[in-house]
Order: sequence, then C-alpha cells, then structure tokens
Amino acid sequence: MRASHRIPIPEPSLESLLWTRDLPGEHGFEPLRVEGVLPADLAGTLYRNGPGQFGQFGGRYAHPFEADGAGTAIRIAGGKAQGASRVHASAGLLEERAAGRLLHGTTASWPRRVSDALRGRVKNTANTSVMVWQGRVLALMEAAKPTEIDPGDLTTIGETDLGVIRSAFSAHPHRVAARRAVYNFGLEYGRQTRLHLYELPDEGAARHLGAVDLPGPPMLHDFIATESHLVFFVSPVRVEILRMLLQLGDFEQLFRWRPEHGTEVICVPIDRPSEPVRFTVDPFYQWHFANAFDRGKELVVDHVRYAGFDSFHDIGAIGAGAASKVLGEGGRLHRAVIDLDARTLRSEPLSDRTCEFPTITPGEEGREHALTYVMFGAGIGSIDARGQVVEHHLPDDEKATEPLRAGDHVLTLCHTRDNAFVAVYDARRIPDGPVAKVWLDHFVPITFHGTFHSSLPE
Ligand SMILES: [Fe+2]
Repeated sequence: MRASHRIPIPEPSLESLLWTRDLPGEHGFEPLRVEGVLPADLAGTLYRNGPGQFGQFGGRYAHPFEADGAGTAIRIAGGKAQGASRVHASAGLLEERAAGRLLHGTTASWPRRVSDALRGRVKNTANTSVMVWQGRVLALMEAAKPTEIDPGDLTTIGETDLGVIRSAFSAHPHRVAARRAVYNFGLEYGRQTRLHLYELPDEGAARHLGAVDLPGPPMLHDFIATESHLVFFVSPVRVEILRMLLQLGDFEQLFRWRPEHGTEVICVPIDRPSEPVRFTVDPFYQWHFANAFDRGKELVVDHVRYAGFDSFHDIGAIGAGAASKVLGEGGRLHRAVIDLDARTLRSEPLSDRTCEFPTITPGEEGREHALTYVMFGAGIGSIDARGQVVEHHLPDDEKATEPLRAGDHVLTLCHTRDNAFVAVYDARRIPDGPVAKVWLDHFVPITFHGTFHSSLPE
C-alpha cells in the first residue's frame, strides 16, 4: 500500500494528552530556564498536584480520578528558579509495584476490590491538591488522609492523621485569615454518613471540632468558611454504597445524580458546631468555592455553579480519549446569599463567562474579597463583584490551570504537549500576558490544585 493511502491517525488533543499521559520521569530540585525577568520580590515555592500515572503493567485505570498522584514544585528566589516532579509513592502503589500487578481501584481483580471495600481500604493516591501547614507539605485526596511530602525533594514521607483525622480529609481545606486557622472536613461513610470538621491553627495542635450526620452518602468535594461559619452545599450526588461494597461497575457508576434530593445547605457555627442551620433548596452542583463572608446575619458565598453533574462524566470521557469538552465549561461564578434566620438561599451569576478553579488573594479568606481569580477555557483572569472580567488568552497549544495570587503577582502552571511552564503575571496587568515564564524541560500531566508558599517573612 502506498503511504498516501494510509488513513491518518489524528493526534490526540492537548486536553486529552494532559488527562492520559504519565509523568515521564521523576527528579528532585534542578535549575530551570527562565524566560523574561522574574520579579525581584517574588520568593517562595509553587506546589502543584494532580494525576501522575494513569495506569500500570500495561493496563489503564478506569477514570483519571483513580490515577496515582504526582507533585510538581517550582522554587523561585533571587530571580532564579528550580523545579522538582515526583509521583507520590503511596503504600498502595508500593504494594502494587512489589506484586507486579494492580491490587486497588476499579480495575483490580473483583475479589480484591470486594475485600478492600469491605475493609474500608482505599488506595491513597494523594492526587488532588496540596497544602502547607506549619511547614509541613501535605498532598491531599478527598477519600483518604493527608500524605506528607518532603519539601526538600518531594519524596513521599507517608500518610498522616495529623493526630485527629478520623477517616478522610477533603482536598479543599480553607483558611480563615481572622481566625489564624485552616478548616477542613472529612466524610466517614457507614451506616450513618458523618461529616467530620477539623481546625488546623497556625500554632498548636489540630482539633476535631465536631461532626454532622448526613441523610445519605454524598460525594462532597469542597466547602467554604466565613469568619463565623463553615458552609456546605451538599449536592445530590450519591455514592452507590452497595455498588461500592460489591464493586459492581466502573468508577463512574459509583456516583449518581439524584436531583429529587435537592441540595442541602448546612451552615455550621464555628464556635457552636453542634448547632448547624440546615435547609434544602433546588438541586445544583459545584466542584469549587471561591470565598465566603459574613454580611450582617447573611452569609455571602461565591462558588462555581453547575445545573447538574455532567462535568464529572466529561472528565471520564476526556480520560478515555473522547475529549469534546474541557473542565471549565458549563460552570459559572455565582454569588449565593444565605439568610440564616429565614433559612433561604438565593444565587445569581456574577458573570455569564464559564470558568473554574476560583481562588482569591491570600489574607482575604473569610472576609469580603476584591477579586476572584479563575481559569477560563483559554486562559486565566479575574472577575470582580460587579462581574467585571479581566483576562489573558493563551495560544491553543498551551493550557493554563488554577491561578494563584503570590504577592503582587499571579502564577499559573501552563501545560503544553512537551513541557510545562509557570507563567508569572503582574497582578495589575494580567491582559498584558506573563512578565516571565519558568520552563520545566518535560511533560507534566494536568494539575488540579496547588498553593504558593512564600519564603519571605509575612
Ligand atoms: Fe477540587
């Protein structure tokens, strides 16, 4: 057959590659190439976390959310940069490497999966986000405890319960600046699903604040905190516990959208956690919150809202190579106002633009914030309380991720087919594009969340 008669195989899209191709190698901190000039006042470490390995032993995991996590960190100081990337060596992954076959997840053997499920054993892939607390670097995934990482070279130290965590610890801890503490929750599934509440103060030991019983086993990804309340929007995504126990079907079938349950709003007073205000509204879904604050007797809650749960299945489709949508389509930044006395919630979009991965300026958490930084489909930018949008578009062959404010700058790790770079923007001049780029010399799969930890005194 002549070459011209061959049917061309289409190149996978960038989006598809980012959700399917493994981190090609691991390394500790190495010098990175800087394009442009790094601001002299930018000093600290950008930590990013996401999937790093999408399968093993010639097989692929059923869903990108089952991937083994990987951390990438970029240290910036004195106009120079260093970078490190490593797959988290979880106990489950080490066990599989030693056995030479898959032992966990929905692609492992059926008897193994059932036995794991019955014993409440989950492979802690640590693949979703990362936090720094009291100098400790913790990689997080919502179904398990934190995984401690060595900040010196990103090697895995191991799982930790921080002295208080009962079952799991969500990947979305939130700080309340005025309380000098970080708050988080963890779900404990069982005969009764319990929502455990935790406080991690800037100084001193972590505390278990209390627990709230939930009517069914939900999937709950994020929450938000004001200076007075922890706020949960429990969307009607139900974990199919029987399916999970019997390990029937694949990963996606473990979660079901049940709109008839509505979305339950739970507002827990931080100082009186046993007295939550609870009520149910029409169903909606959110992955992420931006911020929340008290306004008289009202709570104002900014979040990226979806009508339903389709975005979850879109992610599975991208992982299966059938990418037509990308995360960040369909969700809109909304401002919800909760009246605690009337037990009502009303919510309006702040902008018609679809976006995801909202963040705010550190120090503004829990009080009224000026800007929400977001990832748009083709770049990053910000949206203010009046819906004013500022943005910078990236070329089609570059994919931005969650933007993070760092001092007077905004950082975003951008992924390409061959490598990745940190784009450093002047926070006041985002539309002008990055003032500097810090290049990693290898491919990095999609990263979900991260944090910038300043090494300058606060
Ligand atoms: Fe998230």
